[in-house]
Amino acid sequence: MRVPVTTLNDGYDFPLLGLGTYKLQGEDVEKVVRTAIELGYRHIDTASVYGNEVEVGNAINAAIAAGDVTREELFVTTKLWNDDQQRAGEAYQESLKRLNLEFIDLYLVHWPVPQQGTYVSAFEQITQLQGLGQLQSVGVANFYEEVLDEIIAATGVTPVLNQVELHAGFTQPELRAYHAEKGIVTEAWAPLARGENLGAPEIVAVADKHGKTPAQVALAYLLHMGCSVVPKTANPQRLVENLGAVEVELDAEDIAALDAVQGERMSGNPRTFPN
Ligand SMILES: NC(=O)c1ccc[n+]([C@@H]2O[C@H](COP(=O)([O-])OP(=O)(O)OC[C@H]3O[C@@H](n4cnc5c(N)ncnc54)[C@H](OP(=O)(O)O)[C@@H]3O)[C@@H](O)[C@H]2O)c1
Repeated sequence: MRVPVTTLNDGYDFPLLGLGTYKLQGEDVEKVVRTAIELGYRHIDTASVYGNEVEVGNAINAAIAAGDVTREELFVTTKLWNDDQQRAGEAYQESLKRLNLEFIDLYLVHWPVPQQGTYVSAFEQITQLQGLGQLQSVGVANFYEEVLDEIIAATGVTPVLNQVELHAGFTQPELRAYHAEKGIVTEAWAPLARGENLGAPEIVAVADKHGKTPAQVALAYLLHMGCSVVPKTANPQRLVENLGAVEVELDAEDIAALDAVQGERMSGNPRTFPN
């Protein structure tokens, strides 16, 4: 199965479907990531705060050693945690060491935490890591228009991507329009609404019409919107199922139906998180 690829605003290729690893721990994560790569996943999303960078790195290095994939064929994202915003350079080296990789494809400032007042400096520090040969692209997660404007003005660098909560029922149209104007990829976290929206009648009806599963339709809907998606699963069958979303072709009638799914933000509001 061929995952569609886009070109980021800094020129690097980026697979639009990847594996999320939040809540995957220990041996589980190693097995899941290894299986995912065997199945054709080429994009893995982790974060220092997930506590699984060692295992994610073990799986990646095992897959490379087995000849399943080359490092260049993989796209690995990790994230700078909020407590480390004033020591991004060191935190980056720690992530690199835990992952046991020579470089990381994409490093994200995980949350702006505006009350801390350090997100501009955090983004600036990670832009300075570029050019040292250990980091390809820089981006953010959970940023919103005002803080994006601020970091772009302060650094002259437009993040390649903003990873935000986004799923059928909560599709953030204004933020997506802002991203499109600036050349920022919108990446959806919780693209399956953590499984909560898969019983929505609109999703089930479109899935039945195409002979696909609700999860495949929920992901295909976001891909159709131009977003990238990082669904998480610990289940090998669901790894295959989620990857199959790239083969679902939705028509205008399907999109109109899916636009009517009811939902709301499930996790923290970035303007106030973690409060
Ligand atoms: N930047 C951020 O602040 C942020 C925040 C949250 C998440 N993320 C990233 O985004 C990724 C995805 O978000 P998420 O993990 O919160 O939520 P998600 O991917 O929307 O949903 C994961 C849940 O859905 C279930 N699931 C997966 N595939 C399924 C399928 N085909 N059918 C039915 N249920 C299925 C999983 O259960 P099983 O494992 O049992 O299959 C799990 O409970 C994370 O793993 C992480 O990498 C980033």
